[in-house]
Amino acid sequence: MRVYLTRRLPGESQRRLEQALSVDTWPEPVPPPREELLRGLAEADGMLCLLTDQVDALLLEMAPRLRVISVMAVGYNNVDVPAATRRGILVTHTPGVLTETTADLAFALILAISRRIVEGDRFTRSGNWQTWDPSLLLGRDVHGAVLGLAGFGRIAQAVARRARGFDMTILYHDTRRLPVEEVSLGTEFVSLPELLSRSDFVSLHVPLTPATRGMIGEAELALMRPDAFLINTARGEVVDEAALYRALASGRLAGAGLDVYAREPVDAAHPLLTLDNVVALPHVGSATRATRVRMADLAVDNLLAGLSGTRPPHPVNPEVLGG
Ligand code: DGY
Repeated sequence: MRVYLTRRLPGESQRRLEQALSVDTWPEPVPPPREELLRGLAEADGMLCLLTDQVDALLLEMAPRLRVISVMAVGYNNVDVPAATRRGILVTHTPGVLTETTADLAFALILAISRRIVEGDRFTRSGNWQTWDPSLLLGRDVHGAVLGLAGFGRIAQAVARRARGFDMTILYHDTRRLPVEEVSLGTEFVSLPELLSRSDFVSLHVPLTPATRGMIGEAELALMRPDAFLINTARGEVVDEAALYRALASGRLAGAGLDVYAREPVDAAHPLLTLDNVVALPHVGSATRATRVRMADLAVDNLLAGLSGTRPPHPVNPEVLGG
């Protein structure tokens, strides 16, 4: 069996895969171009890809042997899952192992934007610091503030656990109510408009789907308080970036902590990056060594199980496995 990898894997997982199967790996640190993907998939039984690789219906048509697509990410919006399912191709992903790490980063963004950490770092290095100043870099308190979690899956719940340590009031909105988690985490279920209008911090934790694309637009941002902050560690396309820029630049919103963008890598000249009230990170929510190794291991487990015809740990479309 042959598998195609769109990037070299961290840790031991690359070797583990190479010992089990014939592996063709794109060697560059950037995503393979379309022609290379087509070449790699022409003969492949399995594929291990990243969120940067667009796997669409046309590509799948050109991959006649493909049986498993293992995505090394929890989000799999880069794969046309319905098209894969129609062709009987199993899609898998890597939830769970990155939950706590991504929640850490969401909380880091909450602290960074409200306490002006990045601005403060730039100022300290600038040589302009003259004295202890009662009004220097005044921020907003995180402790005791209201946190609104849009989406209440694993990562949002892990953010809620952290927020409890900061005595925050925690609101959540999801497509379904989760009574057990709601009570155990001391949270309150509210509608999205109520969440937006009551929160000091709105943190996004929804997958990118047709329903969530552009979910935070002009109207939703207008519901947020002018002293509130938006945190996005989910997917960039969930937010209308032009509307977000207008809200931040005009002072209708206090700030944003962003790890994800509609288009990645984000252009260095992007209007959002011109604003001091934005903390911008390069999609590093899961970026700790330990977590990336766990993600790669799980992606390999998924791929090997799928190719051997056994149920993988995390199938996205288990219906292709049949009875
Ligand atoms: C994911 O897994 O979907 C993240 O965005 C990558 O860290």
